[in-house]
Amino acid sequence: MNTLKRTIVICLFTGYWMIPFAGFGQKTLDQKVDSVLKLMTLEEKVGQMNQYNGDWAATGPITPDGDKQDQIRKGLVGSMLNVTGVEHTTELQKIAMESRLKIPLLFGQDIIHGYRTIFPIPLGEAASWDMKAIEQSARIAATEASAAGVQWTFAPMVDIARDPRWGRVMEGAGEDPYLGSQIARARVLGFQGKGLGHTDAVMACAKHFAGYGAAIGGRDYNTVDMSLLTLWNVYLPPFKAAEEAGAATFMNSFNTLNGIPATGNSYLQRDILKGKWKFQGFVVSDWNSIGEMIPHGFARDHADAALKAISAGNDMDMESRSYIQNLPKLVREGKVSVNLVNEAVRRILKKKFELGLFDDPYKFSNAQREKSQWDNSANLMVEKSMAEKSVVLLKNEGQLLPLNREKLKGKTIALIGPLVRSIRQNLGFWSYSWPDDSLRVISTWKGIAQKVGDDIHLAYAKGCSITDTSKAGFEEAVETARKADIVIMEVGEAADMSGEAKSRSNIHLPGVQEDLIKAIYATGKPVIVLINAGRPLIFNWTSAHVPAILYTWWLGTEAGGAVADVLFGDYNPSGKLPITFPRAEGQIPIYYDHFNTGRPPKNANDLNYVSSYIDLPNSPAYPFGYGLSYTTFSYSDITLNSPILRPGGTLEASVEVTNTGKYPGKETVQLYTRQMVGSVVRPVEELKGFKQVYLTPGESRKVTFALTVNDLRFYNAHLNEVYEPGDFKIFIGTSSAQVKQADFKLEK
Ligand code: NOJ
Repeated sequence: MNTLKRTIVICLFTGYWMIPFAGFGQKTLDQKVDSVLKLMTLEEKVGQMNQYNGDWAATGPITPDGDKQDQIRKGLVGSMLNVTGVEHTTELQKIAMESRLKIPLLFGQDIIHGYRTIFPIPLGEAASWDMKAIEQSARIAATEASAAGVQWTFAPMVDIARDPRWGRVMEGAGEDPYLGSQIARARVLGFQGKGLGHTDAVMACAKHFAGYGAAIGGRDYNTVDMSLLTLWNVYLPPFKAAEEAGAATFMNSFNTLNGIPATGNSYLQRDILKGKWKFQGFVVSDWNSIGEMIPHGFARDHADAALKAISAGNDMDMESRSYIQNLPKLVREGKVSVNLVNEAVRRILKKKFELGLFDDPYKFSNAQREKSQWDNSANLMVEKSMAEKSVVLLKNEGQLLPLNREKLKGKTIALIGPLVRSIRQNLGFWSYSWPDDSLRVISTWKGIAQKVGDDIHLAYAKGCSITDTSKAGFEEAVETARKADIVIMEVGEAADMSGEAKSRSNIHLPGVQEDLIKAIYATGKPVIVLINAGRPLIFNWTSAHVPAILYTWWLGTEAGGAVADVLFGDYNPSGKLPITFPRAEGQIPIYYDHFNTGRPPKNANDLNYVSSYIDLPNSPAYPFGYGLSYTTFSYSDITLNSPILRPGGTLEASVEVTNTGKYPGKETVQLYTRQMVGSVVRPVEELKGFKQVYLTPGESRKVTFALTVNDLRFYNAHLNEVYEPGDFKIFIGTSSAQVKQADFKLEK
């Protein structure tokens, strides 16, 4: 290395960028990146594109391999995942600083719904329809994770999911492209905070690009086959929103999309993401998804897979080793252009510069900061509030809820079910367990006990386990219920029954839990059922008989406290379903914004050669957007400022919403539209906006939505984003299935 180059290297890593030495201080980010690139050997370049799993946790099948530390020292590793904590990240960063060019490592991790403070699972948070709260949850996750040495989260997962058999529905925002896009944006903004370069910002990663949620049969990693119209109108919008919000990275996906693995798909990565959308960040593969192009039948071997992945725009290789083992040779043989490698490395280095790692590779390695975020009680308060907002009240016959503490004084509440006393389950899939979870995580039992103190007696029986079919505990549970004045049951899935590789063909309440509910209900005691799950479950008997049902997903560290607040009316439930709940697996995929078909049934009993099932209504158990409150809301008819909307103009649609019940409460007012005739068929309803209003009893508020032609755009048969003049319907209401309606015309 000549003297100038050596000086440059030293300056690079001692934070002297801003000193106008050899003109460096004036350099743009691109010039800085290029000046590093120039120093790199081909192996070092490919090293930057190589990501290994650490030894802290494994989130995929482990590849037994050689000495990773030695490879880091040789500059052959650009990033690690699953290494966390200041101690561990510092240790590895020090090794990276022993490498020839001292290029800092990037530490990535699945911070999906919190790091130390665990928030509700993303699908639960989506039920809040509260973008500020969702952003704040991501902000706190980023603050805690970045304090522990993590610079990059593999989140948000923005896959549209319409098949609750797919275990990963828990990880996203549900079925709707509009709601999904709003949430994608909120999460990216939350993770990246004031921007990369701030010590409490982590890079977001929009995943899994693209179509992963449409795995056939809901079976994880399965084939995806969909029209480009569906891809553009339904599955891509949240990715576009994430890109527009500034997501620093994207992750591609395990699935094939219309015959081509997403990882080797240049239509997705080069044409759309880096081309049309001008994405400036980098794309990481999913775990070994480059290698998996071999069993897919798309690549002959790892060399072929590496060639296809880089050609398609995949910049970093997570865990397959295809790049590190093959790219240098492929370049030397002239099979892969070095320009492709340079482009990928540039994108990766740029993010390392933006994060400030070249100035200080230990920027995220501050033990003091880590300690200060470890037991942050303010974060727990925010978590509790997020958890309360995520709960959905599905049924409340006879106003059984909220429970009245005064009236229950001296009485007994029986708490029955396999999840009442669970600790770990409350954190859901994609969360970390910490050794002190048993003290920190609030179970339902603990939350209620804290709420009622000595005033109300609590009794407990487990009744049964989650999946086991033994009914041995029923008798004790029934006895416990008999002696009580009221029964609260907590049932559902185990936390690890949803998540990655957790597809289920049967999504009924598992085991004998619904039988337990029947047995307890038969005692004649008033029964309230709480359902914990990472997906919509099927529980038709419970829906038909039990007077009060709350869907509580997995609510995180403060779960039990939040549930107690909701049960006793200290929080009036306001959650709305972000995904349709089917009556039977046979209805799946089921979603509200379907097409009308040429033979829509006239009513639920219409079987006269119409598009229906002979053994089941078409309607779901609970529709998208549904969720009750302890109070009631009435909607006036819709008023429009004009029956005509023209390009450049604004259509104002208003309703008067009134709290007609006894409690103050929050309502999410939802706006949907329907284009009656289109150049391609348009859905029967599409969410276009929502607003949350808080009303005290008797209070009314006018809620106005402003629509422009931009809200009515969609991708046509040529995949151009257009709006089309014609007749429209506008719907405003409390769910996708309960709305007021008006008509307007879109004119040229
Ligand atoms: C595989 C998952 O599909 C992806 O979402 C995750 O980020 C990686 N594993 C890393 O854990």
